[in-house]
Amino acid sequence: MAKVAIMGYGTVGSGVYDIIKNNADHLSRSVDGEKIELKYILDIRDFPDHPEPNLFTKEFNDILNDGEVTVAAEVMGGLHPAYEFTKALLEAGKSVVTSNKELVATYGTELLEIAREKNVNYLFEASVGGGIPIIRPMHQCLTANNIVKIAGILNGTTNYILDQMIRKGKTFETALKDAQAKGFAERNPAADIEGHDACRKIAILASLASGKFVDYSDIDTEGITAVTLDDVKYAAAMDSVIKLIGYAEFGEDGKVYSIVSPMVIKSDSPLSGVDGVFNAILVTGDCVGDVMFYGKGAGKLPTASAVTADIVDAVKHRERSKKIFWEKPSGTIMAGKDSRKFRYFIRTNDNAENIRGIFGKCEFVDNLISGESAFVTEPLTSSEAEDKTARLRDVVTKLRVMA
Ligand code: HSE
Repeated sequence: MAKVAIMGYGTVGSGVYDIIKNNADHLSRSVDGEKIELKYILDIRDFPDHPEPNLFTKEFNDILNDGEVTVAAEVMGGLHPAYEFTKALLEAGKSVVTSNKELVATYGTELLEIAREKNVNYLFEASVGGGIPIIRPMHQCLTANNIVKIAGILNGTTNYILDQMIRKGKTFETALKDAQAKGFAERNPAADIEGHDACRKIAILASLASGKFVDYSDIDTEGITAVTLDDVKYAAAMDSVIKLIGYAEFGEDGKVYSIVSPMVIKSDSPLSGVDGVFNAILVTGDCVGDVMFYGKGAGKLPTASAVTADIVDAVKHRERSKKIFWEKPSGTIMAGKDSRKFRYFIRTNDNAENIRGIFGKCEFVDNLISGESAFVTEPLTSSEAEDKTARLRDVVTKLRVMA
């Protein structure tokens, strides 16, 4: 019998509870017939109508000091007290599994190191891509590869919002309200729409791929709040869509280039057809080439599916660390922001002559709004794009175009 605890009974925590109850036989088969029994649910709130009220505790120490509990699922979210709880549990020789990308992206290096020292596991499959298997495939199945590039739609809320704008012509605000009503959005929607959630996720993937801690605060991050219905219409006219992309490239010199940015994506890219709350992560390895991971990136059961799989894995690997870790680099491993060029889609009220004077060769797009010009530049560094657009009159939009 493996006794486990859930910490945080929100959307994901209640999903983990449902899966442990509903799929008990199947889960037990996965661990050679051993039963997975839920012993505690930690939450500061009361759940008087819950069918198993005796499981609930408000005392973290009940879990920490219970020698029978070997695995805890931290699905509380936020940094504190999730960090203190996780650290204490790992130090006490218990494995912890989590969906908390903020915690993994911030304290992952330290927590993974403690797990390794204590011969237990800190698993975080649900922290990126919700229900999509991505952490384990990157760590195990793609381990023979040097990862060259990762481009991902990593945030379900923003993908849902952009999709509603594209397909239904909804405004940004209405689409955001829909996403919140459906439970996809973070408590604070800024984390989604400003790109912070996607930034933490690409930082985790980049750390895993490079074996070195990629600090999310070093990643240039832009959300989708400035993307308008007109931009979306322009993209459609160019046989493209706009998606929020978490992007990382890994140089042979060990440097990592990473950004989070809305990008114009041609309809022939596999990422262009990823709609609604779905996420997709396109990983390029030096041996395997391109592989794409696709599925529901948010929501109760998809996320709980990944958390529960980690519980099973932690039970299977009791007292055997899976040795997933990344090191803190001695200096910066981030490549400069100008080490990579993109083409840019630009809308401006300036005229074609000035545009050509500033940008040289560029591709004009039929304008949909009278009085403005729309065009796509040649590949430019971030600084070149900034300097040149600063010389234009009234820039309406500046968006990277994915190659
Ligand atoms: N708010 C996140 C999203 C939830 O929309 O993708 C999953 O991390």
